[in-house]
Amino acid sequence: MSQLAPVRVGLLGLGTVGGGTINVLRRNAAEITRRAGRAIAIRCATARSIDKPRRADLGGIKLLKDPFAIVNSPDIDVVVELIGGIEPARALVLQAIANGKHVVTANKALIALHGNEIFAAAHAAGVIVAFEAAVAGGIPIIKTMREALAGNTIEWLAGIINGTCNYILTAMSTAGREFGDVLKEAQALGYAEADPSFDIEGIDAAHKLTILASIAFGIPLQFPRVLVEGITQVSREDVRYAAQLGYHIKLLGIARRTPDGIELRVHPTLIPEQRLIANVNGVMNAVLVRGDAAGPMLLYGAGAGSEPTASAVVADLVDVARVLTSDPENRVPHLAFQPDALTDVPILEPGAIETGYYLRMHALDKPGVLAEVTRILAEQQISIEAISQREPLADEDVVPVIIITQRIREAAMNAAIARIEALPSVSGPVTRLRLEHLE
Ligand code: HSE
Repeated sequence: MSQLAPVRVGLLGLGTVGGGTINVLRRNAAEITRRAGRAIAIRCATARSIDKPRRADLGGIKLLKDPFAIVNSPDIDVVVELIGGIEPARALVLQAIANGKHVVTANKALIALHGNEIFAAAHAAGVIVAFEAAVAGGIPIIKTMREALAGNTIEWLAGIINGTCNYILTAMSTAGREFGDVLKEAQALGYAEADPSFDIEGIDAAHKLTILASIAFGIPLQFPRVLVEGITQVSREDVRYAAQLGYHIKLLGIARRTPDGIELRVHPTLIPEQRLIANVNGVMNAVLVRGDAAGPMLLYGAGAGSEPTASAVVADLVDVARVLTSDPENRVPHLAFQPDALTDVPILEPGAIETGYYLRMHALDKPGVLAEVTRILAEQQISIEAISQREPLADEDVVPVIIITQRIREAAMNAAIARIEALPSVSGPVTRLRLEHLE
């Protein structure tokens, strides 16, 4: 077998994914060496507290307190960044690049917010920054879109890319449970971010969507342009009414190419119950991609967790090991398209996004009220797909009215909702959720 010297890795972060990476590299060392053509050896690692007991065999790994000692070490070829957050991760990654080291990272926030700067630095230095583990854990969605679908024009993608939200929505749907209780359970499972508002407010999914959209369409990373709505406004009633009408509610990240620009959005979405992706439950992730040649493709798997995420980290390490001696100009580009071929396609303003809607409102139970509501929708050119009046609320003279609409521009829907909310016969705000048929 190969006589090449082992690839020397410095690991920043010995948490869940760091431990998983050590375990996978040790357990599968022979297979990994057979694939990479040389061994991959973790030489040193840093963690905030280096004395803490770990669920990984740290034998032969030098433990250091200062992560800069690793990125500045002449004895390290590849830095694996698993500490998360923006600083000091950004400074460490840029320093590693400046020192000519390749980088593997699972840091979605870092890539979504600072990826343009990081990839430009990596391109100039002729090094690789690999980030498969940043999106959807063990699902190889980056590699699939960047390499396996390289012959396609990607039309759109829609992903369940936050396991915490999917766990919560699944429990609300299957067990009729309350949001707050289920969030605590998801945190206990170790899936939630350090600040779980990143999960439930849709920010984590927006980080991942930003990365996927760049790779799908060859555009710079543009996290601030993503329309982001989390799941905190989704009630048990909405989950139940949606189910009665044949839909499941999922937090989707959607990126879609349109003639006027690109839609980038994360929000709770009604999906017809018969779609495969509507049945992705619990903490599992899935990404549905539509390429013009391949057609629709669904990738499903564990979106987080120690070894699933380590699987992606190690695959990136194998890729780095394979190309260590190759000409930088002939490597797979970081964002799938050559850096000088990224295009500045506009990202659509929220008002220009087109989607179907689910509306829930509380209306007085008297003749003519529904006619007023449907007249407003008609005047805004909004077609109704289904309308249903549910059982009256206890001790109140209002009834919930649910309306499903066909696709319409968000600006027209916002105008209609403002007019409906102003009707004396409608009490309180109108709940609005978006709906996608994903055909
Ligand atoms: N908090 C994330 C999730 C972890 O729930 O999916 C994986 O990025």
